[in-house]
Amino acid sequence: MKGNGIVVVGAQFGDEGKGKIVDMLAESADVIVRYAGGGNAGHTIVVGERTFKLHLLPSGVVRGKRSLMAAGMVIDPRLLAQELDELMRAGITIDPLILGIDVRAHLILPHHQSMELARSASTKAIGTTGKGIGPAYEDAAARSGLRFADFADKTRLAAKLPAYAAAKKRVIEAEAMASGATPSIPGDESVLEEYAALSQRLAPYACDASAEINESLGAGRTVIFEGAQGTFLDKSFGTYPFVTSSHPLSGGACVGAGVGPSSLTEVHGVVKAYSTRVGGGPFPTELAGDVADRLVEAGKEFGTTTGRRRRVGWLDACMLSRSQQLNGFTCGHLTKLDVLGGFSPLLIATSYTLPDGSTTTLFPADTELLDHLIVHYTELPGFDALAPSQWREVARLGASLGFAALPPAARAYVHAIGELTGIPLASVSVGPGRDEVIWANGSREEGHADAFFKTLSLE
Ligand code: IMP
Ligand code: MG
Repeated sequence: MKGNGIVVVGAQFGDEGKGKIVDMLAESADVIVRYAGGGNAGHTIVVGERTFKLHLLPSGVVRGKRSLMAAGMVIDPRLLAQELDELMRAGITIDPLILGIDVRAHLILPHHQSMELARSASTKAIGTTGKGIGPAYEDAAARSGLRFADFADKTRLAAKLPAYAAAKKRVIEAEAMASGATPSIPGDESVLEEYAALSQRLAPYACDASAEINESLGAGRTVIFEGAQGTFLDKSFGTYPFVTSSHPLSGGACVGAGVGPSSLTEVHGVVKAYSTRVGGGPFPTELAGDVADRLVEAGKEFGTTTGRRRRVGWLDACMLSRSQQLNGFTCGHLTKLDVLGGFSPLLIATSYTLPDGSTTTLFPADTELLDHLIVHYTELPGFDALAPSQWREVARLGASLGFAALPPAARAYVHAIGELTGIPLASVSVGPGRDEVIWANGSREEGHADAFFKTLSLE
């Protein structure tokens, strides 16, 4: 029996609302897997009155589902311990029956954060989250990194850490000398002591997540592969060098979690109803001034991880069509549609004029071209701002009417997105909660869901 492998990917620059979608899908899943990235992610999940902000842990932990951190991740044990503490304080039990960490995942050490500080110029330009993500993936690629298996065995950690730390220190010092930055250099003894204590605490979670996922799928279970960041932050296909150091794309789920492509039965793209980007890099549809301020305020567009104000802009159909090519979405989830209430007209980018004078609908492969585009938009009439209770009423009607419950102009906007991007939208969110979602063909009850998604899936 073959199970369902469902990948959930951010279709833009991250922060599309993946946490909420994964949380909803998790209800009918057995295993939730994070396949890439680390503490740079910030997933907000609203359950009733409570809001959880997760960075490292898969969103499934909130529901008590088997949650796996896969080999493609880079794991900061300090951050993980903090996150576990916070959830435990909120009354959420996490034990090795719930959480598993692939022994192949790479370890983030304080040296990785110092390295980011040492390279202040490049990290500032990219606007990295400062969590040591890039340097940890560099070590992984250079075959010099420590992995969770090295960390989970205290004796091995004590044997490997000194030489590793000494090598890192030399590089940090050289980089700092060149940049003039003054990062703190982690002390050998204190790091070893702290990490030995963390090892004691976290070692019980060590597992072979890849084998477990494959066994689960083989037993007919449903596994959700939870993406972090977004398509245009992909190391190869994003707006390089303004990207993260992993592969957020749907294909990243295969190499990140250790499953074959044929295990993936559905690919869900999460699309925010407008665009945002945090950090540096090109953003063709970026807004400035009053409209930008209003959108930031309405959408509460401040980073979950760094608290930074996000850059905002109109939806970009060229980007999203490309996202569809890169990820092969079998369906999409439009989020934060309510935020656009009161903005009129609504613009969607549909083509670009390149510096050579030609016009194209294809998102350019060369990042440098992106700063020199003339963007062409289609304009749609806006719809009124509604109070949260009114949107909830729309969502309630949506349970029988589907998207027809939306105000006509909002519905036309949703329809235009589907047409322009080729992403078949399965749901539209009109608020942060689980009761503020409208499904294309009405409600998404247990059982109904599977049949519904089958109609959209690849086969
Ligand atoms: P890094 O992942 O910390 O190396 O940061 C590289 C770039 O990706 C920066 O522009 C970050 O702001 C951005 N980034 C990293 N993680 C996220 C995320 O989860 N959401 C949005 N942007 C992110
Ligand atoms: Mg986020």
